[in-house]
Amino acid sequence: MARDFRDVIESLREAGELKVISRPVDIRYIGTLVEESDTALLFENVAGYDMPVVAGLLGSQRRVGISFGCDYTEIHARLEYGLSNPIPSVRTDSAPGRQIAYQLGDDVDLFSLPVPLFAALDGGPMITAGVIIARDDKSGLNAGAYRLMIREKNLTCIDIVTPNDLRRIAERNTAEGKSTPISINIGTNPAVTWATAYRPPPHIDELEIAGGMMDEPVRLSPCETIDVPCIADSEIIMEGEILPTGWTKPEGRFGEFHRSMGALHWNPHVKINAIYTRKNPIYWAFHMPWEVICMYGPIQEASLRRSLKEANINVSAVNITPGGSCYFHAIVSIEARVGDGKLALMAALASDDFKHIVVVDDDIDVFNPLEVERAIASRVQADKDVMIISGVRAKPLDPSLELVTGRMPTTAKMGIDATIPRDLPKERFDKVAYAFEDEVDAQAYLGDTEGNVDTPDEVAITALADRLCEQLLNGDPMYYSEILKQEWSAGNSAVNRALASLHERDLMWQDELGRVCHKNSPQAAVPPTSKLTNRA
Ligand SMILES: Cc1cc2nc3c(=O)[nH]c(=O)nc-3n(C[C@H](O)[C@H](O)[C@H](O)COP(=O)(O)O)c2cc1C
Repeated sequence: MARDFRDVIESLREAGELKVISRPVDIRYIGTLVEESDTALLFENVAGYDMPVVAGLLGSQRRVGISFGCDYTEIHARLEYGLSNPIPSVRTDSAPGRQIAYQLGDDVDLFSLPVPLFAALDGGPMITAGVIIARDDKSGLNAGAYRLMIREKNLTCIDIVTPNDLRRIAERNTAEGKSTPISINIGTNPAVTWATAYRPPPHIDELEIAGGMMDEPVRLSPCETIDVPCIADSEIIMEGEILPTGWTKPEGRFGEFHRSMGALHWNPHVKINAIYTRKNPIYWAFHMPWEVICMYGPIQEASLRRSLKEANINVSAVNITPGGSCYFHAIVSIEARVGDGKLALMAALASDDFKHIVVVDDDIDVFNPLEVERAIASRVQADKDVMIISGVRAKPLDPSLELVTGRMPTTAKMGIDATIPRDLPKERFDKVAYAFEDEVDAQAYLGDTEGNVDTPDEVAITALADRLCEQLLNGDPMYYSEILKQEWSAGNSAVNRALASLHERDLMWQDELGRVCHKNSPQAAVPPTSKLTNRA
């Protein structure tokens, strides 16, 4: 696993996933350039600023995997491992991120940092990659990532409209008229950003999870102006405090992770007391929305799997779909026992901010939308299999919520149980598969080669019909394709004619599964009692 932010940049560069732009670039173009690029971008020369900008590091699943030093699909397991094997952070007094006292006290000037505009309708420059540490008097340190909109040279807003832990801490302090000291750490190891964006059970230190993920502790250093530590290996460290002004002023809007513009938010202010940096720091402009979407896939998967495990569900595969911004939607396939479809939905919907979940059997490929839709179309009866729960804790950023001033909104959640109904005959759900698909050498036939041509011979057909008649009377019923296979050397046409002769003699029938049998065999299907009965 990459050890620090510089290692991440280097490994992306080596993999051809990072382009370096050396010519001067206007900071106002950065958002669009990153959006249009198929690699991460390092802007070495941002006109008018003395710091390079890197963006799009986590902008695709491949880049996310490289940043982590593993395959994208393995990251959720790494997160679960960190959760089960946390490593306490350690203290160091030699922090690379504090080598340079960049701006202190009245000299703090956030406008000197190369903070680009992202979406055209954003309300101002947003610091997006900050991992923020605060102290909770009751449970110790709390870490999370929140955007900060720059308002004045030493003043930002902080977006804590959602009911997260930092909001709870700031609300408590604000009620007592106290500010909330925070360190803002930009350009850390992705494991730290990951763990801090993850919502563990209460009282679990996110930084210890990051330590578990990296198999080594996060290094924390004391700050100068506040009694909260910072992450020693950051590129840029800010010391500040959320002022006890409360949620009294509007800020935003912001192009959100759900790919729509966020509404105007009412958020508190943060005063920045000091900025420290590494030598030659690099500013990470965490590019919205794709960097956050790509990184949230494994976070949501880890959270969902934890919930399903608690409910004792046998999970086969999970797809946290990018269409749902890797946040609101999941398709889960399970090895279902009776009632597991609904139980899995309850567990999955209880997990984090998932809004819509589809549960399918493990014969469905959760990464194939056509297959998932086939399951929904052919295995679901909406009155029995769609579960809707109202009044659940919401992600307030969801634009579809009804907002009432002064009240936290709640959301509705929906689950679709697209597993095969246990009380219906299983054969109704047999998937269409092509006969002999494992045997035919398609390539040989799709060229100019002519296939075998049967030359049926009446005597041979009669002999074949008699043999099949005998076999079907005394043996098991057979699928038509099984008969074709058994009588391969006779040829396709000969088999068809032999079966036709049985049918003409009124000896041929079919069993419940549609297999060919003798009319007088015990397996022959019984005709429906009423003409109106459609026994499929
Ligand atoms: C890059 C990034 C930016 C984020 N920005 C915000 C934000 O501005 N506001 C917010 O409420 N959550 C934001 N999140 C999600 C929170 O970090 C996440 O919900 C976290 O678990 C909150 O931690 P807490 O409950 O310990 O406070 C962001 C996540 C990432 C990865």
